[in-house]
Amino acid sequence: MCGIVGYIGFRRADRVIVSSLKRLEYRGYDSWGLAISDGGELKVFKRVGGIGSVDDINLADSGIGVGHTRWATHGKPSEVNAHPHMDCSGKIAVVHNGIISNFQILREELERNGHEFRSETDTEVIPHLIEEYMKSRDFEKAVFKVVDELEGSYAFVAVHAGEDKLVACRYKSPLILGVGDGEIFLASDVPAVLEYTNRVVYLEDGDVVIVDKNGFEIYSNGKRVERKAELVPWSIEDAEKGGYEHFMLKEIHENPRVVEDTLIEYLRDDIEIDAGFFAGISDILIVACGTSYHAGLVGKYLIEKFAGIPVRVEYASEFNYHPPPLSRTLVIGITQSGETADTLEAMRRGKKLGMKILAITNVLGSTATRVADYTVYTRAGPEIGVAATKTFIAQLIVLYLIALKLSAVPKRELEEILDQLRLMPQKIRQILDREDEILSLARRYAGYENIMYVGRGIGYPVALEGALKLKEISYIHAEGYPAGELKHGPFALLGEKTPVVACVVKDETFESMLGNLKEIKARDSKIIAVCDEDVEIEAFADDVIRTPAIDPILAPITHSVALQLFAYHVARLRGCEIDKPRNLAKSVTVE
Ligand code: G6P
Repeated sequence: MCGIVGYIGFRRADRVIVSSLKRLEYRGYDSWGLAISDGGELKVFKRVGGIGSVDDINLADSGIGVGHTRWATHGKPSEVNAHPHMDCSGKIAVVHNGIISNFQILREELERNGHEFRSETDTEVIPHLIEEYMKSRDFEKAVFKVVDELEGSYAFVAVHAGEDKLVACRYKSPLILGVGDGEIFLASDVPAVLEYTNRVVYLEDGDVVIVDKNGFEIYSNGKRVERKAELVPWSIEDAEKGGYEHFMLKEIHENPRVVEDTLIEYLRDDIEIDAGFFAGISDILIVACGTSYHAGLVGKYLIEKFAGIPVRVEYASEFNYHPPPLSRTLVIGITQSGETADTLEAMRRGKKLGMKILAITNVLGSTATRVADYTVYTRAGPEIGVAATKTFIAQLIVLYLIALKLSAVPKRELEEILDQLRLMPQKIRQILDREDEILSLARRYAGYENIMYVGRGIGYPVALEGALKLKEISYIHAEGYPAGELKHGPFALLGEKTPVVACVVKDETFESMLGNLKEIKARDSKIIAVCDEDVEIEAFADDVIRTPAIDPILAPITHSVALQLFAYHVARLRGCEIDKPRNLAKSVTVE
C-alpha cells in the first residue's frame, strides 16, 4: 500500500524519483507526487492517476527530493490528499506509507496550536509535528521527537528546504536504503532502486536514518547502529517487461525458470530444508492472505497427506478471532512480499505465544524474515504485476518440498515424486507453448459476467486461485467452490449465463467429479474442464484446457499455470488494466 521514495545524490532528483515511483506503482496508483528541495524552497508536484512520464517532469535541477505513489486509506484520491504533505510554512515535506492510528488526537492538538490542515490524510500530522518541534530544535531532533509521538505503522521520509539531507523512519512498514557511489536512495521496495544499485540496507523497525551527500547514519532507540549493506541478486531486467505486453504475462512465462531456480536452491540430491527446525512440532498453522492463502490450502493437503501432521489454514486477517495455537504448533506465514500487515501480525501473535515461526517469502530481508525463526525463500525474482502468478507457483514448489521433507512415504515413492517435480519446468513450458489454444478459449468466455470455478480435494484450492485470478484482473464475478458443495446453494446460480471451470484431477476425487460435471450440465452451464491430457473428459465438458500428464498430486502446479493464462487472456480481451487492477495493491501493508 503506497510506495515512497527519497533521493539524495548527483543526479536530477525529480527524474530519479519519477522513474523509481514507476517501479513502485504496483503498491498503489490512485495518485502521486514529489517534492524537490531547490535552494531554500520546495517545489511540489501532485497528480491524480498513474505515474506520469519522466520526460514531462522538470521541477528543478536539484539532487534532493522525495516522492510517493498512493493507495488511498484516509481520504479519497485527489491532489489535496496526494503526498507529499507539507507543514504550514511549505518548507517541510513528508511522504508516508502506513497508518498513523492516533492522528486524530495529534491533529486536534496541532490545530489548537494554530496549524492549518489541508488534507483528510493521517500523514499530514507528521510535517506539522516536525514544524512544531522545530520551534525548539533542529530538523533531525524534531523528527526523533515526532517518532516518539506516532502510533500505528509508518515508513516516512521528510525533507526540509535549505538542508541537504533527508530524515526517514521505519516502523512496521517497509523501507530500504539503496547505497550507490555518491548517492543514496530510500524506497519501500528494492525494485525502485535496482536501476541504480543493488547494494541495499534493510532498515529495522524503530530505525531513524539521516541521509546526506556523505552517506547515512542509522539510529535505533536514540543510539547509532551499524547495518550492513547486502547485495541483492536481482537485476533491473528482472523488474522490466522484457518485450511482453504486461508484467503479468512476462511473469507467467517466467514460471519454468522460477521453478528451476527454486528447485536448484532446495532440491539437490536431498531436499535442502532444515528438518531439525520442524522437530517436536505437534501441528501446523498456516497464516496468509490472498493468493498466498490458496498456496497454504494446497500446503495443508500436502503436509497432511505426506507427513500426517494436522494443518490449520487461516486468513491472517481472521486469525486474531480464533483460538490461539497450541504450544507445539509451528506457525507458517506465507507471504510473497513479506510485508502484508495482517500476515505479519498473525506471525507476531504466534511468536508472542511462544510458537516457532517459519516464513515462506520471496523478498530477502523483508519483515516476515525478521519475525520468523527460519525462512524458506521462493526464488521467483521481483513480481510486479499485482496479481500473483510466478510467486504462487514458487510457493507451491516450496510447500511440496517441505511436505516431502517431513514425509513418512517410502523412499521409492518419494524419489518418484521428486523426479516428477524435476520435470516440472518442462511440463510448464508445454503449457506455455499452447497459449494460443487458451487464447481461443478465452475469446469464447470473455463476454460472460459470472464464472464459477470448482474443484475437489487438491483441485479445490486451484479453483479458488483460478477464480481469484480471473476476478481481480477481468472484473468478471468469479467464485471458487468445492464441487461437492454446489448443490448446497450455488446450483441456484447456474444456467447458460454462468459457465463453470472445473479443475479435474485423476485421483480419488475423479469419479465424484464426473458426477458433479453431469449435475452441472443438467443445469445448462457450459463446462470448461482443466485436465491432464491422458484423461478422457471430452464427453463431460464443452471445452477442455489440456495440461501435460503428470502425477495427479502435482496437478495444482500445471493447472494453475493454465488458469493464469486463461485469466490473463480474458482480461486482455476485455481491455482491462491487467498489471494494476482497480482498487487493488500488490502489497497490503495496512490491516
Ligand atoms: C494482495 C495482492 C495479492 C496477494 C496478497 C497477499 O492482495 O494483490 O496478489 O496474494 O496481497 O500478499 P503477500 O505478499 O502476503 O503474499
